Amino acid sequence: MRAHVVTFGCQMNEYDTHAIQSELAGIGYSFVDDFRQADLVLVNTCAVRGKPVEKAQTLLGELRKEKLRRRGAYTIGLIGCLAQLPEGKRLGEKFGVDIMLGPGAITEIVAALDRGRFRSFEFKHELQFYTPPPPRGAVSANLTIMRGCNHRCTYCVVPATRGPEVSRPADDVIKEAHALKDAGVVEVTLLGQNVNSYGMAPGTGARRALLDGYPSFAELLRMVGRAGIPRVRFVTSHPVNFDDEIVEAIADTPAVCRYIHLPVQSGSDRVLKRMAREYNREFYLSRIRRVRELLPDATISTDIIAGFPGETDEDFEQTLSLYREVRYDAAYMFIYSEREGTPAAIHFDDIPREVKTERLSRLVDLQKTISLEQNLKWVGEEVEVLVKGPADEQGLVQGHTRGNHVALIRGELEPGIHRVMVVHATPNRLYCARDASQGFDPVEPRAGIYRLTSAL
Ligand code: 5AD
Ligand code: SF4
Repeated sequence: MRAHVVTFGCQMNEYDTHAIQSELAGIGYSFVDDFRQADLVLVNTCAVRGKPVEKAQTLLGELRKEKLRRRGAYTIGLIGCLAQLPEGKRLGEKFGVDIMLGPGAITEIVAALDRGRFRSFEFKHELQFYTPPPPRGAVSANLTIMRGCNHRCTYCVVPATRGPEVSRPADDVIKEAHALKDAGVVEVTLLGQNVNSYGMAPGTGARRALLDGYPSFAELLRMVGRAGIPRVRFVTSHPVNFDDEIVEAIADTPAVCRYIHLPVQSGSDRVLKRMAREYNREFYLSRIRRVRELLPDATISTDIIAGFPGETDEDFEQTLSLYREVRYDAAYMFIYSEREGTPAAIHFDDIPREVKTERLSRLVDLQKTISLEQNLKWVGEEVEVLVKGPADEQGLVQGHTRGNHVALIRGELEPGIHRVMVVHATPNRLYCARDASQGFDPVEPRAGIYRLTSAL
């Protein structure tokens, strides 16, 4: 029995895919890279924006053709966030999907297969945690500490697809951290839609009581930090729940990487209100100030949506000015994508696509300028890079720094942690050498491709 699993979307989905593969391996499946060689194909979908939905749709079209070619002897599963939404159900019916499993029922994959090759639309909100065996030979791993989200940002489908927050017991988290360490993992990323509210009682606010027997996220960070894994990261945060204790825990815990991803979404108070983000610009900036005070060397990144309904040019200027004020090292930038059933889709009118894309391109230009300035500050510095493997560019290996910069190093370095010197920077890369005598030659500067050479 051969399976092919395709993953769209976030690290949460990667973790779910890994868990599903473990379950399937447990009943004798092996995995193939080509869906044409598989008996079972699972598409782990993302529904957060229109683009990943379109990608899933294209793939489902291909899979339907393959199924017809095999006269039906082919099992197709539509799993993940899209499977939890009416939109996914419609696609499942249209493309003759056999199995539908939302993110809350991922661990039922074997039961769903046992029930036979017939449609079993499982829309469950109960959430389970699982401990997949640590990936063999991997240097980095993800560790889910909570699922779901209690916030109600008006543009977002996540509360509908992943349900309300559920925190995983701390003992399980720590046990898994130790198992990962024993398996040789040197970097663990704690995952959740909003990890900052780990262990908190229902609600969204900052001052919520803790659930019985649960530590706060700040305490959990300190606990995981003691597990002996050299790098601990976490994504993603919500400014309202990103409190001083968390910043202090990062500052006190050497294993925790000084990399803060703090989505802002917009720099305009008016838009933030329409997004129901629960904070204003000044509050967000106060969080950044706290980070800069306690973690002066931290890299900071964000998520921004351009062209939210009702966003005026002035509002967007506010986003650009906030960007200049914070001077983010990196950013994930999106045009607003209307998602069926969300409050924004129900109550607000989308703005013209050209307006959205024009704003996005201005934002991307600013991001490139500032990221380059930020990255150039690292030239001449020694950094720690976790090498993952060969880069696309020949003769280089690729990895990332503690600050999450993509780093390219010349030579054959084993996967693992290395200390190297930054010799050159582009807006989204640090080029590094094992010793300062190595320089670089721009090969195709217009394409942003560089090759390291010896300066001697
Ligand atoms: N349109 C555009 N971007 C969105 N995001 C979430 N929902 C939407 C949407 N409807 C972005 C937000 C979030 C990131 C994961 O995806 O910036 O932080
Ligand atoms: Fe979506 Fe907002 Fe929750 Fe993030 S915090 S998952 S954007 S509802």
